[in-house]
Amino acid sequence: MEIKNYIQEHKERFLSELFDLLRMPSVSADSAYKPSIEATAQWVKESLLKAGCDTAQVCETPGNPVVYGEKHVGDHLPTVLVYGHYDVQPADPLELWETDPFEPVIKTTELHPEGAIFARGACDDKGQMFMHVKAFEYMVKEGKLPCNIKFMIEGEEEVGSKNLGWFVEKNKEKLKNDIILISDTSIIGRETPSITTSLRGLSYLQVEVTGPNRDLHSGVYGGAVANPVNILAQMIAQLHDEHHRVTIPHFYDKVKEFSAEERALFAKIPFSLEEYKKDLGVKDVLLEDGYSVIESSAIRPTLDVNGIWGGYIGEGAKTIIPSKASAKISMRLVPNQDNKEIEALFTEHIQRIAPEGVTVKVTNLGGGPAYAMSIDNDGYRAAEKAMEKTFGKRPVPSPEGGSIPIVALFERELGTKSILMGFGFDSDLIHSPNEHYGLFNFFKGIETIPYFYEYYVEAHKK
Ligand code: BES
Ligand code: MN
Ligand code: MN
Repeated sequence: MEIKNYIQEHKERFLSELFDLLRMPSVSADSAYKPSIEATAQWVKESLLKAGCDTAQVCETPGNPVVYGEKHVGDHLPTVLVYGHYDVQPADPLELWETDPFEPVIKTTELHPEGAIFARGACDDKGQMFMHVKAFEYMVKEGKLPCNIKFMIEGEEEVGSKNLGWFVEKNKEKLKNDIILISDTSIIGRETPSITTSLRGLSYLQVEVTGPNRDLHSGVYGGAVANPVNILAQMIAQLHDEHHRVTIPHFYDKVKEFSAEERALFAKIPFSLEEYKKDLGVKDVLLEDGYSVIESSAIRPTLDVNGIWGGYIGEGAKTIIPSKASAKISMRLVPNQDNKEIEALFTEHIQRIAPEGVTVKVTNLGGGPAYAMSIDNDGYRAAEKAMEKTFGKRPVPSPEGGSIPIVALFERELGTKSILMGFGFDSDLIHSPNEHYGLFNFFKGIETIPYFYEYYVEAHKK
């Protein structure tokens, strides 16, 4: 049976299974959800067994478990390793959800006239990960699985994959593969399918500025003592210059500069500035001098404050000089920047620009390097051919600004490339209230994946 017909026949079941998965609040950032994390891992394991894996296990790690499953069909055949994550971002702010984040419903939107599934994790990454389980089910049931397959579905991606490096190092033999296939990124649109060719890296730090040893009366002491909130604001303001570039010395030293040809390709990616601004409700964008929106948000490094606090924030006026101020600051990195090095540069710089009257403490909240892949390999070409087959249009290579920190480690530890064949839209509101995933995208993904296997194995034989 053709994949399209198989989907038609099993549509309702695929959706009701995905809904069961989406009902489990597997939030990795908050330890209160640990029981749900465990239950979700079990569920994923069962789903792999039901779909046709020879074996599947919930593998304990020092953190959340990794689900591993495999089906072996022949020693001489290539092996595809599917990576995804079953953990999700916290749902807050809850009051901004139109429906319960853990009770999936289908609603239509302008971009999804045939309906989209609204739930936390619908797109990132339960919906996308589950497409692989269902495509695998089809290949097994219809006798069309052309190679060996391994699944590694983790539960800590949204908190920086803290223990996955440990797991990979311990299980190198078990995870041996020829290519890694991941659906955890976006396509540009249904008329413009795309394959992600780079991801940014990340360095995430928390800064705490301490001034006086207690909150002070701002009339009695104000003017004589450094105010940590003022100081923190000044320090943050100094981290960018008038060209919207980061001022940390040596920050750009290793940044990969893209060639004129590569930049010409980025310039061809369909993009409407008007629609972009309208969607975000902003009158203008703010870009690093000399770079487009697509470049600034995908191939250039950035520095952003994610949160900032300190002093009195209750009702009415309270006149104090606060003792402390804090901020969470992240930097998105690009190929060749080393996240450890950037952390060190940041820490040194922020200490240097702090006045004597305060002390600054910097805590590391994790990160990982960027990833860039070439389009000149069998994996990319198989993904390209598969998408061309199902979208009726040849996909374009597309750099993306998000991070999947573990991808660089896979290449280092396992020696194989990752193909980032995602099916979400940037407008699917991942990490935001009302996250959703289009029925179009979900079924298109299931339809495309078996062709990837077919074309990849075909190319591998040659
Ligand atoms: N799936 C995303 C990454 C992504 C989203 C890549 C859209 C490309 C396009 C992933 O789950 C994610 O959110 N990653 C985090 C990493 C962080 C928690 C270490 C990110 O990018 O902020
Ligand atoms: Mn994800
Ligand atoms: Mn995410």
